[in-house]
Amino acid sequence: MDALPTFLSHLLRHLPSQAEIVEWFRHIPPLLAVSGGILFWLALARAFRWRRYNAMHRKYGPKWSNGKGIITPEEAQDIMSVSTRYDMPMLLNYALAFALFKTYGIPSISKLLASTKELKSKETVSKRYADTELLIATWVGCPISGFLDASMSVTNNGPNPKPADDPRAMLALARTNWLHSKYRISNEDYLYTLSLFILEPGNWAKRFGWRKLSPLEEHAYYVFWVEIGNRMGIRDIPDTLEELINWSKDYEESYMVPADTNKEVAGSTVEELISFVPETFGVKALSRRIVVCLMEDPVRESMLYPEQPWLLRKSLDAGMGLAAFVQRWFLLPRSREKFPIVTKLPKVDDKVGCPRLHPTKYTYRPWYRPEPMSAFGVLREKLLLKLGVYSEMPGPHLKSSGYRLEEMGPLRFENDGHEEIMRRAAELQGCPIAGPWSMEGRKQQELI
Ligand SMILES: *[C@@H]1O[C@H](CO)[C@@H](O)[C@H](O)[C@H]1NC(C)=O
Repeated sequence: MDALPTFLSHLLRHLPSQAEIVEWFRHIPPLLAVSGGILFWLALARAFRWRRYNAMHRKYGPKWSNGKGIITPEEAQDIMSVSTRYDMPMLLNYALAFALFKTYGIPSISKLLASTKELKSKETVSKRYADTELLIATWVGCPISGFLDASMSVTNNGPNPKPADDPRAMLALARTNWLHSKYRISNEDYLYTLSLFILEPGNWAKRFGWRKLSPLEEHAYYVFWVEIGNRMGIRDIPDTLEELINWSKDYEESYMVPADTNKEVAGSTVEELISFVPETFGVKALSRRIVVCLMEDPVRESMLYPEQPWLLRKSLDAGMGLAAFVQRWFLLPRSREKFPIVTKLPKVDDKVGCPRLHPTKYTYRPWYRPEPMSAFGVLREKLLLKLGVYSEMPGPHLKSSGYRLEEMGPLRFENDGHEEIMRRAAELQGCPIAGPWSMEGRKQQELI
């Protein structure tokens, strides 16, 4: 029965002394300061990280009203810019690259690509990759109305419409349509590709991003790409996002089947994707495996790739998950946009009537990278070459003077179709192409 008093006396004997208590309290201020600092940082990161997202939802959320209202393609483009330029530009850029890649799992598509030979030699693969990315980034990043103020596209339709401020998006689309017209591509293959452009960004954000796309954003991707699809002449586009998801799934289940051409075309694209990776220590072999891990099973099987080890797949998921977690909770957002092209309208020097454009980043084979103008520049390029950032020095053979949208695509078509591209681009945007972007602009340049 005397257990309780014994316990109490034991407790009393072990109570901390006054000196010990004082000692503890001396640790509290630094502890408080550290945890307060962390909390402050978390709150700051949170407030800034969601600022653009919240502002965009305040602007368009009520208008869309969860599907009861209408979002125009121009508004959709504005909505997309938050995710594609600021919130997860690299991830969503890869999502588009993979969307294209996924289509190589459809034998009718891979057969056509294999027959064009564009994906055969290193030279043409790298240019095809660079040009495809630039053309697509131009549709997404430049105003599809042609005007910085999108409302102009509604009012600018009298007998003498004003020329577009920025016709780059429709020039890029007209050039793409022109290039596509050289091949026989089925409407369903176009539609499947379009569906991936709509759906893959959302899937990638869900799988690897620090945040998902909101329903408004998913709808905006649908609206924007449907407009692009219409302007490409794609028919029978499903009327709602849900129907499109079902259609795409059905098509994939029926037509994504193993084929040698899938493997061939996919293989050369994977090599291009990892071309910058050095061979040393098996890093290249590992990165090849990692690319295969990123493929969903039906895609991987259709391209005849073996399943990768469980441990590698899980480590990759864990690594990507950790990166997303850190980004979501601890990092401040980007302050400046990141995008493959300069979305702001370039300043055109009067003397140089015909602007040639440069990407904001370069592929391993640095297509369109300007030649260095100074001794320091030459040194920098040589260093980048040594470091393995680029495969060779910029030069005319890689179009170091930059690109014109009406020239893009396989080199053998470089000088063809320009007049037609101008005409079709003007039709697509409903107003003329003038100034530096037009054929007159080109001729002016050629006189200099
Ligand atoms: C899409 O497919 C799901 C499940 O297969 C079905 O429940 C749904 O009704 C379909 N939606 C449309 C719009 O066809």
